[in-house]
Amino acid sequence: MPAVAVIGAQWGDEGKGKVVDILAEHADIVVRFQGGNNAGHTLVVGDETTVVHLIPSGVLQGKMCVIGNGVVVDPWVLIEERDALRSRGLLEGDDQLKISDRAHLILPYHRAVDAARERIRGGGALGTTGRGIGPTYEDKMSREGLRFADLMDVKSFPDLLENGIDRRNRYLTDVLSAEPVDYKQMLDDCNRVRDQLGAHVTDTSVFLDKSMSSGRRLLFEGGQGTMLDIDHGTYPFVTSSNTVSGAIATGAGVAPNRIGTVVGMCKAYTTRVGAGPFPTELNDEDGERLRKDGGEFGATTGRPRRCGWFDAVLVRQAARLNGLDGLAVTKLDVLTGFEKIKVCTSYDLDGERIESFPASRTAVNRIVPNYEELPGWSEPLERARSLDDLPANARRYVKCLEDLTGVPSFLVSVGARRTETIILRNPFAS
Ligand code: GDP
Ligand code: IMO
Ligand code: MG
Repeated sequence: MPAVAVIGAQWGDEGKGKVVDILAEHADIVVRFQGGNNAGHTLVVGDETTVVHLIPSGVLQGKMCVIGNGVVVDPWVLIEERDALRSRGLLEGDDQLKISDRAHLILPYHRAVDAARERIRGGGALGTTGRGIGPTYEDKMSREGLRFADLMDVKSFPDLLENGIDRRNRYLTDVLSAEPVDYKQMLDDCNRVRDQLGAHVTDTSVFLDKSMSSGRRLLFEGGQGTMLDIDHGTYPFVTSSNTVSGAIATGAGVAPNRIGTVVGMCKAYTTRVGAGPFPTELNDEDGERLRKDGGEFGATTGRPRRCGWFDAVLVRQAARLNGLDGLAVTKLDVLTGFEKIKVCTSYDLDGERIESFPASRTAVNRIVPNYEELPGWSEPLERARSLDDLPANARRYVKCLEDLTGVPSFLVSVGARRTETIILRNPFAS
């Protein structure tokens, strides 16, 4: 059975939640494999809007939800999210949500370190979501993190938690001038987490392996986007996990040759939240218009998103890094009313044409984008359900994105609602 992955091809917020919700109809299990509650994935069904941060976006379709080992989990956020969904009659059985016993816990000191570091960086702040993501991945890599398997071990957990608290508190107070955390309080809170989440904790790699072997269909849901990848993104203005499709293998414990089709998500323009380079950013009324018409405010932090024209260099880079088989292009409707629409086709750097993003953090600031200009359209698009329903210039725009990125469209989204979608190809059928 083919497994399908949905991966952000820009700087996140491309509409992964919407597309995962749609594709989940054809899947049995939806799996998160990296990131944490820095993600905010929006699902709009009818007039009801749901934002999920940790629970996979297949939840509204009643699918099995798996949080893989590569995810960093703030257990209190997860409990709140699960309980809110349960109060709506979703995720009722403990079995419907599985959490990897190898997933790392985001604890209060991680959040405190994240916030304090950003404060100290001042004008050079990265603009993190403040959810403790980076410090938790740091602990994982320095082999000082705590995993769900540790939490479940009632006898050894208190010592594991206490171990290093003094050192962490000294770092918080003496280096970061932040408040220390209270061990006793944290232990009590963690004990309650064990009671509330314990029934979901399991070896999800084993579960996914058995599921695939028995023919169940998996849908992998990426968090963030390719340009926020710790290795391949705009370092240091990135998140702390690998966001590309290769991370599925390590972050879900699923061998790479079992991942079938990779769908790359992109907006019909570009946005980014937080600091860092953004070659096609518009600091003018066109940018303001995209923000307003696109409702470009973060689903996690509510921050206004920076907006700019579509950047084909980025999406080509994402095609290479992720092995994109198809694109899901969202928010085409937001471009309605622009007389001319620009698309970045390549960059110049110091007078030379370049085809990919440079690694140098100083060079990225000297990038000059080259644009192609396309004619716009004035008709609203929300009712379109096939390419033929689109105005000729909107069709031409989509074709231009496909030609420039070298990736065919599987789906074009023309509104936030589940139904406001043109489906061209079902990736589970390929
Ligand atoms: P994600 O993080 O990739 O899941 O994306 P977010 O949910 O953070 O941000 C995407 C936003 O765009 C959400 O508010 C969606 O409801 C909305 N959205 C998704 N697709 C479309 C679309 O085609 N048109 C419009 N107007 N809004 C969309
Ligand atoms: P979804 O899954 C957009 C950005 C933050 C910041 C940088 C580092 O909804 O697309 P972090 O808290 O991860 O250490 O912040 O990454 N960022 C996102 N931007 N969408 C996201 O997730 C993001 N998750 C993190 O704004 O610039
Ligand atoms: Mg988002």
